[in-house]
Formats: sequence, C-alpha cells, structure tokens
Amino acid sequence: MTTPSFLTDFHRVAEIGATPNHGVDRQAATAEDRETREWFRTFAQTRGWEVRVDGIGNQFALVELVPGAPYVLLGSHLDSQPLGGRFDGAYGVIAGLHAADRIANSHAAGDAAAPRFNLAVVNWFNEEGGRFAPSIMGSSVFAGIMDEAEMLEVRDLRGVSVREALDQIGYLGSDARPEIAAYAEIHIEQGRILEREGIPIGAVDSSWYTQKLDIEVLGEQSHTGATLMSDRHDALLGAAKVIQRVHEVTDQFPPETLVSSVGQLTLEPNSPIVVARRVHLVADLRADDEAVVLAARDRLLADIRLIEAEHGLTIHARDFDVRANQHYPESGIRLSEEVAASLGLGARRIRTMAGHDSVAMNRIAPTVMLFIPSVDGVSHCEREFSRDEDMAAGVDFLTEVARRLLTG
Ligand code: GLV
Ligand code: MN
Ligand code: MN
Ligand code: MN
Repeated sequence: MTTPSFLTDFHRVAEIGATPNHGVDRQAATAEDRETREWFRTFAQTRGWEVRVDGIGNQFALVELVPGAPYVLLGSHLDSQPLGGRFDGAYGVIAGLHAADRIANSHAAGDAAAPRFNLAVVNWFNEEGGRFAPSIMGSSVFAGIMDEAEMLEVRDLRGVSVREALDQIGYLGSDARPEIAAYAEIHIEQGRILEREGIPIGAVDSSWYTQKLDIEVLGEQSHTGATLMSDRHDALLGAAKVIQRVHEVTDQFPPETLVSSVGQLTLEPNSPIVVARRVHLVADLRADDEAVVLAARDRLLADIRLIEAEHGLTIHARDFDVRANQHYPESGIRLSEEVAASLGLGARRIRTMAGHDSVAMNRIAPTVMLFIPSVDGVSHCEREFSRDEDMAAGVDFLTEVARRLLTG
C-alpha cells in the first residue's frame, strides 16, 4: 500500500465540512463529524489496526506491538467550533495517525528498538463544546473527571441529547477502553509566541485556570409597543448589561492577566415585537492565577444582583466547567527537549490558555503536550492557519516523542 503523505491527508480531511473561507464546521456528533470518523476508521482498518469506540464516542485505533501491554496514546479531536478552523484538533489526530504509521512500518521492517508498550491513536469526542457543553467531554469521561451517564444526557440548543446524536451517526459505542501508559498530543498554539520567536515547537508546561458562568436572566414577556416603559422587565436588556459588566470587570485587572467573553446567547421568544422573557448566556473566564478568576467572578455576581434589582429581573448564575490550572510533568518536557536536540529543531516551554484534551489526560497519565506555530495567533475562526512546513516538522517531532515513550 502506498502511504499518502501527511499533508495530503491533512488537506483531504479539511474538505470535510469545509466552509466558504477555508474553515470547517464539524460540530460534535453531526454528519460532518461522522464523515471524519469514517475517514479515521478507514485509515486504521486499511493498515490492519483494530478500531474501538467507547460509550461516549471516543474513537481509538490500536496498533499492536506488544500483546497485552498498555498503550502509548497519541491524538486530539476532529470536531470543530461552528465556522471553526481546519487545524484546531484535526492536526493532532492526523499527526498521531501518521506518527503511528511510521512507527508501525519501522517495527514491521525490524529496524526499531524493542517497545515496552503498544501504540494507539485517539479522536476524542466533543473537545470543542460548541454544540454540547462542557467542552473536553470525551477525554474528561475517559479520565474519570466527568460522569459518562450524565454527559450522555447533555442536550444541545434544539433539545437533542449526546446519546441521541451519537446514536444517530452510529458512534454510540460500547467497546472496552484501552489501558494507557502515556499520552502525547500535538496542537496548533492558537497564540503568537512561537511565530514571533521563530521557534518551531512549544513544550507545554502549564495550563490556565478556566471556568464558565452559566447565566439565566428571567424577565417578563410583553408587547414591545403596548407595554409602558415603567412596566417592563426586559430579560435581554438585563443580559446586555451582564455582558458589558463581564468586559468591564475584566478591564479592572492588569492587561492580559484575565481574559473573558460571552460567546453564546439564547433568547426567548426572540421576536422583534416581544419584550424577551428569558436569556441564557455563558461567560468564559480564564487567568493564570485562580484567585484572579475568583475575584472577577465575585465582582460580577455582586453586579448581577444590582442589575436584577434595577430591572425587576431574576438572574441565576452557576459555576460551570471549572478547570484548575495545572502543570505538565517535567519528565515529558525534558523528553521534548531531548527530541528537539536530536532533531535539530528549536523548542521552548510555553503555557496554554486554551483548553485541550491533554488537560484531562494529564490527570491520569504521564502527558506530553506540544505546540506548533499559528500564523497571527488566530483560532476558532476560518482564518486560523499554520504552515505546511511547520505541520510537517511537528509530525517528525511527535513521531520521535512516541518512539521514546514506547521504549519507556
Ligand atoms: C476549547 O477549545 C477550549 O479551549 O476550551
Ligand atoms: Mn483543540
Ligand atoms: Mn478549539
Ligand atoms: Mn480547545
């Protein structure tokens, strides 16, 4: 079998769910997500690798090297944000498959050191959390941080549950989960540091504290013309003030110590001639320092009480998707530095403000998290871009990391 190059496969997968301006739209458990899963399955099965799907839709390709041994797992996610970029997640899964293919080929040719472990590649379910919140769902269930039964009942904005959506695309699995010896993930940086410094590889050493606030603003539905201004309890006006406060509270901290946004809003009943009765919105708060997020959250909750009183509204706010900041193991960072030296590729330590499946896996397995440069630091948009040569260097790097993890 001729092996298509990594770049050929990367550009092929980018056609699945392609959007007009070079992005992709492949939200979790949609027809487009199913198509990427079929592509993943075909890649594995044409090489004779076993494919498994677990109870939350995580998809594994298993390369048997040492019967009965646990697995060195490589991967990331093939789902995307709505109108997302084609690199976020997909790069890491396709890089993992190609790294595994190279390693499997050198074992078959008998020119590789004897491994201690098996090798596997994973496409985690619903890393993005755009359709089904919380994000990082599949890997968090795998790591035992989230409850599978509870996550299967999470619903999208149209009322479809994770269980129903996975079943509809044929990916509600029940296969046994592989036992993991180590995890390695490569991803685009989604920031500007590597590009600015001209360094091809980032070895991630820590992740930011992140949390969301799930906010429900309840007012009273009424006629936009016939209701006296003094009689209105406008949920959308209250929501607008909450959104503005999220931004203003963030501005009270030194620049870039805290980042925040409200990126999702649902409005009922959503008619130009009806004062809104209910708005649901989600605020996302992130900082290196947990205390900063908690202080901002407390200021926001106090302001929400004032907005309630001023407009005669009821506002419920609930902490949601809280992720403590954490450190990646020093052993993995040192391994990355050794690989950088052996391949003659520069690397630097870097932290992540974005969430990754490795944040969950880091809780249960020795984890290596790698970045390649992003152009202009943009992500979660169609303009997201990384260069072919940087992607190719990252695949070489991941392959060498995996080889070293396999011989342990
Ligand atoms: C999702 O992509 C996140 O960064 O949390
Ligand atoms: Mn990602
Ligand atoms: Mn993402
Ligand atoms: Mn992410």
